[in-house]
Amino acid sequence: MTNLHLTKLGIIGGTGLTQLADLTLIKRESLTTPYGQPSADFITGELAGKTVVFLARHGNPHTIPPHKINYRANIWGLKQLGVDNIIAVAAVGGISPAMAPAHIAIPDQLIDYSYGRKHTFFETEDYPVTHIDFSFPYNPKLRAALCAAAAQAGVAVTQTGTYGCTQGPRLETIAEITRMEQDGCDLVGMTGMPEAALAKEIGMAYASVSVIANWAAGKSAGEITMAEIEQNLHIGMANAAKLLKAYIAMADD
Ligand code: HPA
Repeated sequence: MTNLHLTKLGIIGGTGLTQLADLTLIKRESLTTPYGQPSADFITGELAGKTVVFLARHGNPHTIPPHKINYRANIWGLKQLGVDNIIAVAAVGGISPAMAPAHIAIPDQLIDYSYGRKHTFFETEDYPVTHIDFSFPYNPKLRAALCAAAAQAGVAVTQTGTYGCTQGPRLETIAEITRMEQDGCDLVGMTGMPEAALAKEIGMAYASVSVIANWAAGKSAGEITMAEIEQNLHIGMANAAKLLKAYIAMADD
């Protein structure tokens, strides 16, 4: 279906996806990188007859908050294992009307509101000053393949959207979400950056499967509760897993 090489697919699982059910374990590796320790062991396994490398972004168990994730070590580790396509699954809040809880979006743009994170590989004398093109933060080919896989799996997805990355770990104020909406954000999450940019810096194709956990602040009555988030993620992540399975089954070896 695509000419993406599936032997080099990496999946980063977010909140609600600490492990990939149906992945038959081949190898579990603890890697050290020049940037320090990744979030968890890298799990190489087989799914739908193909090899996949899985990493739990927040650790397993889920203990690393978004601003403390070692994004550089995670991306470097995947690269070290030969991964060149990354599907990043993440829980998000829904801002625009189509982004209802438990729904899935495959964003095509992002705005970065995070700060203080180690956000580049290009900051030592090992590299010349480098400015990557980031017009298209998410790989169009990988996104198209994910949308085709969603159709095949019967999973409804919104095929575009702008992801706004906040610092967390707290959720946003209503005024912050109003500002983000005015900026053009459809979704709000805490882990999309610098992950996407780091992948691009070292030549990896990257796309996000954003699973909507709740209406963003001010978009529904009352406060956002963890119980609501967990309930929606339960449904949304099951659909994300279905989509991933279809993607893997459809992609070329
Ligand atoms: N804001 C930021 N990140 C999130 C949210 C939210 O409302 N829900 C899940 N991740």
